[in-house]
Amino acid sequence: MKNPPTMTEFSPSFIWGVATSAYQIEGAATTDGRGPSIWDTFTHKPGTIIDGSTGDVACDHYHRYAEDVDIIAALGVQAYRFSISWSRVQPLGHGDWNEAGFDFYSRLLDRLAEKGIAAHVTLYHWDLPQGLQDHGGWLNRDTTQHFALYAAEVARRFGKRVASIATHNEPWCTANLGYGNAQFAPGVADTALAIQVSHHLLLSHGLAMQAMRTICATYGSSPRLGIVLNQWPAMPATDSVADIDQAEWEYARSVQWFMDPIFKGRYPQKALDRMDMRQFHVHASDMEIIHQPLDFLGVNYYFRAFVSTENPPKQPEGKLGFSDMGWEIYPVGLTDLLLKLRSEYPDLPPIYITENGMAVADEMKDGKINDLQRINYLQLHLYALHEAMACGVDVQAYFYWSLLDNFEWNSGYAKRFGLVHVDYETQKRTLKDSAYWYRDFVRSQMQAKAA
Ligand code: FCB
Repeated sequence: MKNPPTMTEFSPSFIWGVATSAYQIEGAATTDGRGPSIWDTFTHKPGTIIDGSTGDVACDHYHRYAEDVDIIAALGVQAYRFSISWSRVQPLGHGDWNEAGFDFYSRLLDRLAEKGIAAHVTLYHWDLPQGLQDHGGWLNRDTTQHFALYAAEVARRFGKRVASIATHNEPWCTANLGYGNAQFAPGVADTALAIQVSHHLLLSHGLAMQAMRTICATYGSSPRLGIVLNQWPAMPATDSVADIDQAEWEYARSVQWFMDPIFKGRYPQKALDRMDMRQFHVHASDMEIIHQPLDFLGVNYYFRAFVSTENPPKQPEGKLGFSDMGWEIYPVGLTDLLLKLRSEYPDLPPIYITENGMAVADEMKDGKINDLQRINYLQLHLYALHEAMACGVDVQAYFYWSLLDNFEWNSGYAKRFGLVHVDYETQKRTLKDSAYWYRDFVRSQMQAKAA
């Protein structure tokens, strides 16, 4: 293993943080007027979640947010990325706002401000209000307008109190896992519909950006506005023409499918040529709306795509192993991806690594969790990140996924991503060894900053 970066290697202004999302930690699913979201509906359907669990209680963060912010403060990080549950602040996704819902986020923001922690908000981390799903959800073009109104309202209320606002988290997942293969809510399996959903997600992003820019100009606030995309470099398993071609197609339909409209104002031709376009409806001005300047691009990196056309497909060797999710640990993919983005998109704004992390089957022994694998993972990925930055990629923040063990979507509570262990019976939080490692690492960065 290569040595981790030393304290002098990251810039003094670099932002260190941790990340979560609303449905995965908040619980309090029906408290204080929160409306149901598609994830409430989905998890309550038998057979959807591996361990049959739901986010009804999750980490009970809604009631324990103060303690959780204290933990973030104890880690010594400067930034916290979390998402707003749309149906908590607007129970139906249209119409009336729920003041009690906004109050919760206001209390959370107060607590973060008291501790000097910057808030990085995501508007949509997959939990569409069921009230909008009942009218077709992301297949209904009207949803894009409702999303823009919701974005504007959050920007109006909180624009001065947050450091950044991201429109969507990983629209690839919303479209392809929610509509393509039914692994995620709302549980639809139709790839042609997934493509239309992805277009509506991008359109809603563009409309929300426009609406928030107007609000920020009116109210004199200046949160950085952007989007969070999950990305992977696609690598051919061999140098055969078929594998190389397949890898290019994989990259086009996953990464470029979202990046090109946002940064170039058009869909990638390589993807258009091969996708199922039966349901693809794009209005004349849509691409212009999607193509808005961003203040930052959030990149979530977990693994590479290893692309093989052989039957059965050739598997990666996974030299560094696989996480408890079965995801290959491949840190150099982060360097490759960032360099590729920089070379392909001249208008790339500063990048935040908004998620990166590892599920480990952590076991508590004598009240401690020795998650050495996660520490190694962190070291290697920070090294890989530093390599990209040394080559000139402008990365300004890193958020570890996740602060807490939490509800890992269709994997339920079985997969643990946290720096902090959660005992779901008692809701007791215990810092893992990785949390102490990250705290010390961040502290060394801060000391370098002060020196
Ligand atoms: C990402 C999601 C996040 C979490 C991690 C493990 O795709 O954005 O909510 O589930 O994966």
